[in-house]
Formats: sequence, C-alpha cells, structure tokens
Amino acid sequence: MRILVTGGTGYIGSHTCVQLLERGDEVVIVDNLSNSKEIVVSSIEKITGKRPVFYRADILDREALDTIFTTHGIEAVIHFAGLKAVGESVSKPLEYYHNNITGTLTLLDVMREHNCFKLVFSSSATVYGTPASVPIREDFPTGGTTNPYGTTKLYLERILSDLFVSDDRWSIALLRYFNPIGAHESCLIGDNPNGIPNNLMPYVTRVAKGTLPQLSIYGNDYPTHDGTGVRDFIHVEDLAAGHIAVLNHMTDAGVRVYNLGTGVGYSVLDLVAAFERATGIKIPYRIADRRPGDIAECWSDPSKAERELGWKAQRTLEEMCRSAWNFEKAN
Ligand code: NAD
Ligand code: UFG
Repeated sequence: MRILVTGGTGYIGSHTCVQLLERGDEVVIVDNLSNSKEIVVSSIEKITGKRPVFYRADILDREALDTIFTTHGIEAVIHFAGLKAVGESVSKPLEYYHNNITGTLTLLDVMREHNCFKLVFSSSATVYGTPASVPIREDFPTGGTTNPYGTTKLYLERILSDLFVSDDRWSIALLRYFNPIGAHESCLIGDNPNGIPNNLMPYVTRVAKGTLPQLSIYGNDYPTHDGTGVRDFIHVEDLAAGHIAVLNHMTDAGVRVYNLGTGVGYSVLDLVAAFERATGIKIPYRIADRRPGDIAECWSDPSKAERELGWKAQRTLEEMCRSAWNFEKAN
C-alpha cells in the first residue's frame, strides 16, 4: 500500500515506518521537523534497506499536502504529526489547538479531495481524563481532559466520528496510546526530542548519561502504591506493531477505537528501579511539586485489541529500559 506517514521522523512514526517498509509498503513521510531530525530518514533506510520518500513540510500547508497526494497516489494515512507535551500545552493552548486541530482538518480536507478515506489516528489515553477506575476500557467515558493537549485529541476523535457520519466511505482507526518508551533494537532510532525532554524516559536516560544532573519526580503524594504517578509503559516496537495490526483489519468502512497498552501499571519509582536493574546505573532524583495537568493513575485494559486484531504487547519493562539506554548511549 502507498502510505503517507505524517510525523514519520518522530518517535513512534519512525518505528512504524520501519515495520511498514519491512512488510513491503511504500512509505512517504511528511514532517516539519519541529520535534525530530532529518537524519532519521537515513536511519530508517539503514535498518530496512529502503529509503522512505521524505518531505519537510507542515500539515498546515495545504499546497504541500496536495502535491504529495498528487505525486504519490496515497492510499492510506497514518497521522502522527502533532505537538504532544502535556505540561507545555497548559502554557501554549493556542499553539496546540492550531497545530493539532487545524493541521488535522487541513489533512482531512486534502485526503477527501484525493479520494483517500483510510486514516489511522494517534490518539491518547489522555482522552479518558481522570478515569473513574483502572484498568481503562475503550467504552469508558471520554472527556474531562485535564490539559489542552488531551483536549485536542478528544476533539479530533469527535471530529473524525462526525466525518464518518457524514460520509460512510471513511475507514478510521482511533488508537489510544498509553506511554511508549524504549527504542528500536538497532539503536538507530528512538526517543530523541529536541531540547530538554518533557517525558519521563528520555529524561531518565539523559540523567544516566550525565547530560542532565538529576531527575525531578513530579509528586509523591498521589493515591498510588508509592505516591508517584502510575502509567502503562509500552515498548515502542510493540506500539508500532499495533498500527500494522489495525491496518490489516481496516478492510471495511467505520470508526474503530483501540487501547494500545500492556495492561500493567508501573509507578515512576518502579520505572526508575527497573532502569537501575536493567542498566546498573543509579539515577539521582529529587521529589518536586506535582506537574500541572497530571493524573495519578492511567493504565489500560488492552484485551479488545488482542481479541479483534490479534495484537498484544510482548516486551517487558526491563527490555524497554535496556533499549532506551542502548539508544541513548549510541547517540
Ligand atoms: P514526536 O514529537 O516524536 O513526533 C511527532 C512528529 O510530528 C515530530 O517529528 C514533529 O516534528 C512532527 N510535527 C508536529 N507538528 C507538525 C506539523 N504541523 N506538520 C508536520 N509535522 C509536524 O511524537 P511521538 O511521541 O512520536 O507522537 C506521535 C503522535 O502520537 C502524536 O500525535 C502524539 O500526540 C501521539 N501520542 C504520543 C504519546 C507518547 O507518549 N509519545 C502518547 C499518546 C499519543
Ligand atoms: N514525570 C516525572 N518527571 C519527569 C517527567 C515525567 O516525574 O521529568 C512523571 C509524570 O509526572 C508522570 C509520569 O512521569 O507521572 C509520566 O509522564 P510523561 O510525561 O512521560 O507521560 P504522560 O503520562 O504525562 O503523558 C504521555 C504522553 C502523552 C500521552 C500520555 C498517554 O506524553 O502524549 O502519555 O498516557 F497522551
């Protein structure tokens, strides 16, 4: 299939491009490099022996998208491009709504003009807001998001559902990711955000390397087993495999929703301990204030994806930590 991957040089996008190329798809990437680097295109080529087509362009740029669809006859889109930092979104709501929502509206309009109706969308566990209980199932209510980033995902899910109601040619998958960490086994691609990382694991690996002095743990007074936040960490290669599984399943029109997680919650302190066990490196940390927009616990019931797609996360927390560290060392 000829697949456009928006945000394809980013963290999850690059791992997914590798798996798409490995199974024989033609991959075209569009990314404005606001949070990734062009060298990722060469890294994907080193891993797979195939070079994806790359456009440095913004999804807000309708003309650029139009050229891409005209030139490549795109059959499906996996839409990763977006701003994603929970904390930053609280201080920059306009930037988040514009980039994520207007950008997606532009993309959808161009898709429609080119009769491309197959879309896999990167949604997020944040659409569940503060869940009434864990593990979280897909039929739990969405809404009550605690930050603008999560609200962009919530609104986009709604917009995509409305789109299908208006035109039943659309085949749409809403993938609610939990917390991807780790890196490709080659160490050529991984989580390599521009600037100081917002997410936990890239911060931990930079502390391990000595680039950053210590980890700040945002709060130890949550109602969790050790007071620190609990998340469903999932190896990025498992998450990427979820996209392949869903694409295989998207033969009919409709809107389908899947949690992509492991079904196990670990706390920030659990993750630090697992990292220390996996690598033998001590992570200095201090307890800081809670971060605005954070919730106590968020982990999935991923059984729907296993039942319907035959997909299940395979890798352990130690494997996630080891691969994240191997990537950091190699880069
Ligand atoms: P990432 O920042 O590594 O990748 C996103 C890519 O999109 C980047 O390369 C960035 O340069 C690009 N981009 C951003 N805005 C763009 C625009 N307007 N035009 C073109 N390119 C643009 O992030 P990621 O972790 O790979 O996340 C991918 C998607 O998954 C995002 O939509 C994110 O919200 C979602 N998601 C991520 C997580 C996570 O923990 N990483 C969890 C849930 C959902
Ligand atoms: N944390 C720290 N110190 C840090 C960074 C994070 O203690 O330096 C803590 C957070 O407070 C939270 C946990 O580590 O308790 C995980 O934080 P992340 O920033 O790594 O991830 P979030 O759960 O906040 O959000 C991530 C993605 C979102 C996505 C969400 C889905 O960034 O895009 O997972 O669960 F929507």
